[in-house]
Amino acid sequence: MLVSDPCGAPVTAPSDPESLDALRQRLAAVASLELAALDAEEIAVLGRKQGELTHLLKAMATLPLDEKKQRGAALNALKLEFDAAVAARRTELKHGAEARDAREVDLTMPGRATWTGTRHPVTVVMDEIVDIFRELGFVVALGPDIENEERNFGALNFPPDHPALDMHDTLYVDTAGADLPAGERLLLRTHTSPVQVRVMRAGPPPYRVVIPGLAYRNDPFDASHAPAFTQMEGLAVDEGISFVDLKATLSHFARRFFQSDAQVRFRPSYFPFTEPSAEMDVSCALCGGSGCAACKGSGWMEILGCGMVHENVLSNCGVDPERYTGFAFGMGPHRIAMLRYGLADIRLLYGGDMRFLAQFGALGQ
Ligand code: DAH
Repeated sequence: MLVSDPCGAPVTAPSDPESLDALRQRLAAVASLELAALDAEEIAVLGRKQGELTHLLKAMATLPLDEKKQRGAALNALKLEFDAAVAARRTELKHGAEARDAREVDLTMPGRATWTGTRHPVTVVMDEIVDIFRELGFVVALGPDIENEERNFGALNFPPDHPALDMHDTLYVDTAGADLPAGERLLLRTHTSPVQVRVMRAGPPPYRVVIPGLAYRNDPFDASHAPAFTQMEGLAVDEGISFVDLKATLSHFARRFFQSDAQVRFRPSYFPFTEPSAEMDVSCALCGGSGCAACKGSGWMEILGCGMVHENVLSNCGVDPERYTGFAFGMGPHRIAMLRYGLADIRLLYGGDMRFLAQFGALGQ
């Protein structure tokens, strides 16, 4: 039998035909070995220490020169063929396994669901409120969560002895060592209304703004209170704005947000920064007005506080109350989310319970 040397020259079979013939048989068998047997055969024949072919190659050292040449060429050729056969078989096995895997993919299996996440129900509520007011020409204004007492209370016409100024309701910031004007105290804003002051002081009227943000109070964290909660403030100031504009705008909002046939009612109320002041109720979105747990049997849900901007507030902010009038309102998106979705405990809106939150996916589209 002829084999090739590395340079391609044919060489005749060496003088030790027995061991070489045996190795050639094993070479022929390589093509049908499975992986574990292939690994073992590679070591048994080509292994650097115990390999049979390696052993024969080493044993050549003692042969006379011309025999060494002839036998060396044959052994090296055989070694190369063995190497090539092992590599080829290994590739074949690998592709075979891949092809088999591919055949085993079950195309009838249902696809794997991907979790895309959803907006939080309070975010859904806030986005919707902003969108409705945007349609009416309002723009979004923002302010910082830390305020001074003057903007949070004084400019908004709170008398200095108003109970809200009490440490009990307001979370003051520890400013020891801070470089503040004499007597200035900083606090976590107790409502978003100080942003009204910032907006009016930043430039002349007209203003039509909605102000989403967080407000903070020294309240317990229970089923109906949280120390940090969302608010949505609104302010419209221009020449000739009247209580009719307030009622029309806020009724429109309620019908866009709840139901187109929702009833609204305005009840007299009191806020230091508006005069007159009112609270707006909407017929219960869950029972339609017949009375249920969400509206505590009254058929009405209290949605927001509102009123005509007090003339002291306008002048505190550099706006001429002889020329301009306006209305303002404030509502709590956390509370509105509770009313809209019939939630009895506000803490559900602060937890990360996915079983609860995942239910709002479709509503958030
Ligand atoms: N700031 C009020 C609060 O936190 C809410 C409010 C009521 C805001 C009436 C207003 C308003 O702008 O006109 O309870």
